[in-house]
Amino acid sequence: MAGVHIVIGDWSKSMENKVEHAGMVGIFTTPVFLSTIVDETIIDNAVDNVLKLKETTPGVERVNNWVTDDNLQTLPEFKELADILLQESKRALDEMTVIRDSDYITCMWANEAPVGTAHAEHIHSNSLWSGVLYLRVPEGSSPTLFSDPRPIANMIRPDYENASPYFLGARWGQIPKKGNMIIFPSWLPHSVETVPAIEDAETRIVLSWNIMIRSKVQFDTAKIEY
Ligand SMILES: [Fe+2]
Repeated sequence: MAGVHIVIGDWSKSMENKVEHAGMVGIFTTPVFLSTIVDETIIDNAVDNVLKLKETTPGVERVNNWVTDDNLQTLPEFKELADILLQESKRALDEMTVIRDSDYITCMWANEAPVGTAHAEHIHSNSLWSGVLYLRVPEGSSPTLFSDPRPIANMIRPDYENASPYFLGARWGQIPKKGNMIIFPSWLPHSVETVPAIEDAETRIVLSWNIMIRSKVQFDTAKIEY
């Protein structure tokens, strides 16, 4: 059948053993890229620069958090960091073999909030890939939780002795450490859950960015130039 991928195991020995197992394949997986900026001075400088912006610009004040303007990629003090984030995003695009003329950061911003502050589930519209970089994560900080984009897969949900996140997610996250970076498709819903506030803890600071490409897409019946 043209256009349909069917994985067929090697059954050649099945006459001997009746059945030979070809293993499980993961289909419709969601690519998520993990890396870490190990040069701590880059992270520390970014924290200082975010806190300076808090003193010098209004940003966006929310009920329990403060967000910078979304143009950090244009500011000279964030250039080194923006270059690293773009480079890492290019790696993700390359690994996915995305054909494009160029790629760029559309928006880049930082969010400062006390440990325990929730962030409602959302996606990042008008971008192809998005990223988060953990700049300051005091002990007890919440992870970013990514939601399974196939909620119907949980319609019947038995108990498992060892539920694999590769098959059965509902939500996935990992405890963040300073410098950790996650790059993910912008359509993947994500959120931050409330956790107990920690007295006298520093605030949690996370930097986010969106990536878009410039391309003349030739895919049949879906041609477009952006
Ligand atoms: Fe987000």
